[in-house]
Amino acid sequence: MALTKILLIFSLLVSLSSAFSTNILDFCVADYNFPVTPAGYPCKNPANLTVDDFVFSGLGVPGNTSNVFKLGVNLAFDFSFPALNGLGIGIGRLDIGVGGVVPLHSHRATEILLLMEGSILTGFIGSDNTAYYKTLNKGDIMVFPASLLHFQVNVGSVPAVAFSSLNSANPGFENVVTSLGGNDLPTEVIKRMSLLDASQIRKLKKLFGGSN
Ligand SMILES: *[C@@H]1O[C@H](CO)[C@@H](O)[C@H](O)[C@H]1NC(C)=O
Ligand SMILES: *[C@@H]1O[C@H](CO)[C@@H](O)[C@H](O)[C@H]1NC(C)=O
Repeated sequence: MALTKILLIFSLLVSLSSAFSTNILDFCVADYNFPVTPAGYPCKNPANLTVDDFVFSGLGVPGNTSNVFKLGVNLAFDFSFPALNGLGIGIGRLDIGVGGVVPLHSHRATEILLLMEGSILTGFIGSDNTAYYKTLNKGDIMVFPASLLHFQVNVGSVPAVAFSSLNSANPGFENVVTSLGGNDLPTEVIKRMSLLDASQIRKLKKLFGGSN
């Protein structure tokens, strides 16, 4: 008798779970027709998805390095690769021209960088101001703990190519110099809180589109 009841409950559970098993529980491919929210994008109707929704082909080509940092960045995060929405993972391709850099920056996710070509000096600064840095060669990887300031400098004689994966689909990049120069805070305020000279601040504002 007891066994019959257990079997009955078991088969009920199995049929319930199959009735409710839609892939909406497995993933939530972003629907860009709706605005992003703090919890990510709303989901596309799973019935409309194909395998191509889960494939992104943008990292096969170098990014544009015609800028002051000689840095090309191609990103696959939830705003460019809708399948990553809510999955807590993203990847980017970095092309760093000869003499180029990834300027000092941080993001709220841990990064693991794999160097594919060239030679870079890269490191991060701990919250106790210890600098951990090293020259990486092809095939080396380095990890950058979440939120700590870090950078890459091409120290080789050829363009460097690296791929970086982060444990966030939207890690929120913030660059120190572009943030200092790209805002409309009064120069006098930046001078006081950064100890930089007004001429240096004006140079950064001119480079990165800031005002005041
Ligand atoms: C998505 O699928 C629904 C049915 O599941 C259909 O009515 C709708 O037209 C589809 N939308 C697109 C954009 O294909
Ligand atoms: C690369 O960026 C520069 C500066 O923004 C721009 O002038 C140029 O057209 C871009 N090149 C390509 C191939 O997109």
